[in-house]
Amino acid sequence: MRNPRDFLKPLAIGAPLPPREVVVKPSRMIHFFDPGNERMRARVPEMAQQVDVLLGNLEDAVAADRKLEARAGLIEVATSADLGDTSLWTRINSLDSPWFLDDVTELVAAAGNRIEVFMLPKVQGPWDIEFLDQLLALLEAKHHLERPILIHAILETALGVVNVAEIAAASPRMQGISFGPADLAASRRMKTTRVGGGHPGYVVRADPVADQPEAPRGTAQQDLWHYTLARMVDACNAVGILPFYGPFGDIADVQGCEDQFRSAFILGCVGAWSLHPSQIAIAKRVFSPPPAEVAFAKRIMDAMGEGSGVVMLDGKMQDDATYKQAKVMVDVAQMIAAKDPEMKAAYGF
Ligand code: GLV
Ligand code: MG
Repeated sequence: MRNPRDFLKPLAIGAPLPPREVVVKPSRMIHFFDPGNERMRARVPEMAQQVDVLLGNLEDAVAADRKLEARAGLIEVATSADLGDTSLWTRINSLDSPWFLDDVTELVAAAGNRIEVFMLPKVQGPWDIEFLDQLLALLEAKHHLERPILIHAILETALGVVNVAEIAAASPRMQGISFGPADLAASRRMKTTRVGGGHPGYVVRADPVADQPEAPRGTAQQDLWHYTLARMVDACNAVGILPFYGPFGDIADVQGCEDQFRSAFILGCVGAWSLHPSQIAIAKRVFSPPPAEVAFAKRIMDAMGEGSGVVMLDGKMQDDATYKQAKVMVDVAQMIAAKDPEMKAAYGF
């Protein structure tokens, strides 16, 4: 058992105070780039103007013989590039890899005041978060950092899904969790080679028509990921951290990506990863509440005054609970409008 009175105390003498609340900022897309690639590094300031979060990836997709180049490239970006108000995150290598320790020690030493969030892959349980939490506290103290680095877990192992609520609550540094369908599929021995999205074999078939055994029976494709996403959204919101859809690997399937991101948004996710520039616009469109819905939400709030009682709007009942639903929508829209002039105009704020 951890003493709840100690939860918000630094884990090392001289480390900054752990955060009390997660600061909610627009994070519609976490845009992945390879910091070992010089051409990509040169484009970072331009990319930063188009996205909410830029993430220098050190883990999967960076070949083993390019890991050190990627780490050095990220340090160069963090210490020299002008990112405006765009957040810089990194995905470090997993705890059991040969690169984890130097990823953390070198990044905190050289760029701990620039990198806001460390994304930790293949998290199995709260013990993984606690380990990184302690290590970060020691390094923050050593390098005199003034603000704590936050942790974002990837939910991509079967054991991680079993433990997701404990992972979300493991440390006040927890900022959010992303769903990682590729590693998760492998860990669960699912029979799909896709990265996110649906599968044509995962269907429910309609019943046979009575007395017509030959009549065709339609099928409806089901969502492979609903259970996992819903658990993740609850685990995150239960403790005030943010849930994200992760990668959608079929870059050419723009519609499939948009549908998958939108389902995640409606279910409660605040953003998704963009792996290709074409996915930035999709995430922007999907994770900004639709202007018509925001306008209706504003009408609900206006009609409900201080938020209690009951009124009818266009034949729909509104009460204290729908006022709260409307407030979620308007608060997100206002936050996005403050960052994105195009959406500000669309909302008429
Ligand atoms: C992401 O890291 C995934 O494995 O899907
Ligand atoms: Mg993965």
